Amino acid sequence: MKLFIDSANVVDIKKAYKVGVLSGVTTNPSLVAKEGVKFEDRIEEILKLVPKVESVSAEVTPDAVTAEEMIAQAEELIKINNYDKNITIKLPMTLDGLEACRYLADKGIKTNVTLIFTVNQALLAARAGATYVSPFLGRLDDISEDGVQLVVKIAELFRIHNLDAQIIAASVRHPDHVTRVAMAGAHIATVPFSVIEQISKHPLTDQGLEKFAADWKKAVKG
Ligand code: G3P
Repeated sequence: MKLFIDSANVVDIKKAYKVGVLSGVTTNPSLVAKEGVKFEDRIEEILKLVPKVESVSAEVTPDAVTAEEMIAQAEELIKINNYDKNITIKLPMTLDGLEACRYLADKGIKTNVTLIFTVNQALLAARAGATYVSPFLGRLDDISEDGVQLVVKIAELFRIHNLDAQIIAASVRHPDHVTRVAMAGAHIATVPFSVIEQISKHPLTDQGLEKFAADWKKAVKG
C-alpha cells in the first residue's frame, strides 16, 4: 500500500516528502481553506514541492455543481505548473461528478472521485473511468459504521471484476486504520502528517534506543 499525505500544509508536505515515504498528496476545500491562501497558488506550490510523486489531487470547488462547471474548473487546474502530469482532478461523488470524470478520463486526465460511502458508489466511480476512488472511513466510523469494512468490500469488488481504479483510503484518523486498510487491500492510504509520525513510533523502539545509548556511553567511558 502506498502512502499519500492528506494536507494542504507545505511544512507538513515537505517533512513527509523528505522522509521518502510519499507517493502523492490529496487536498480538499476544507484543507485548503484552513491554510488561508489562494487555492491555485497552493496547488502550484505543492506540485513543485513533490515532483517525484504519482499524484497531487486538486478538488473542484463547491461552486462547481454541474458537470460543465466541474470540467471548466478542471481545465484551468490542469494548466497549473505547465500541465504537470501529476495533477489529478478530484471530483465529488454525484452524477455530475461522474459525468465530468468520464469526460476527463477520456482525455487522459487523472481523476479521484471523493466522498465515497458505499460499494455501489465505488462501482459507479470505477465505471466512470476514475483513476482513484476515495472511501472516507473515519466519517463512517463517526456514524457507528465500520469504515474499514467498506474498504474490504470495495477491494473485493475491484478484484472480482478486474476494475482498474485504485482505492485511496481517506479520512484515516489513526494507526490502526492504516494497518487495517493495508491488510484489506487498499492501494493507497492518504493520511495527515500526524498519522505518519504516529506510525513511525513504538515505545519499545524508544526504550531500545535509550538502552543502546546508555550502554554505548558506559563502554566509551570504560
Ligand atoms: O481525505 C479526506 C479527509 O480529508 C477527510 O478527513 O478526518 O475530515 O474525515 P476527515
